[in-house]
Amino acid sequence: MNIAYPELAARIVALSEGETDQVALMATLACEVHHADGRFDWTGFYRVVAPDLLKIGPYQGGHGRLTIPFSRGVCGACASTGQAQIVPDVDAFPGHIACATSTRSELVLPVRDGSGTLIAVFDIDSDQPDAFTEGDADALAGILAHVFERSAP
Ligand code: SME
Repeated sequence: MNIAYPELAARIVALSEGETDQVALMATLACEVHHADGRFDWTGFYRVVAPDLLKIGPYQGGHGRLTIPFSRGVCGACASTGQAQIVPDVDAFPGHIACATSTRSELVLPVRDGSGTLIAVFDIDSDQPDAFTEGDADALAGILAHVFERSAP
């Protein structure tokens, strides 16, 4: 882990102060996280828009797939289980959805509002193999929990 998470968290908290709109918060977070570390080649959100269905939200990087069912890919695995997914080698993950052939590893975190409802998943893809640690997952989960605690659609 080579990212200054306390500084990143403080910046995101300052930028999102008083904001409750989920898309505005997602856009701010995607931008700040994406530019915080060279490991992050695609950074963004897939929103829960129907039971078992994710739709692309704010992101940074190349174009993302628009729709992902809960039954597909790493994002779907995160959404259906509610658990963080750290995938060191996407080629070894059954059903991985390749949006960019350069992607080698991936981290996907659940995003919940203050009531605990799953509203989205936060997906970071890296062109480096085995790019993500439990430390990344924990730090980013803390930021997500804080930012979306008082959010609304
Ligand atoms: N890699 C994801 C799909 C999203 S794109 O990579 C942006 C997955 O398998 O869930």
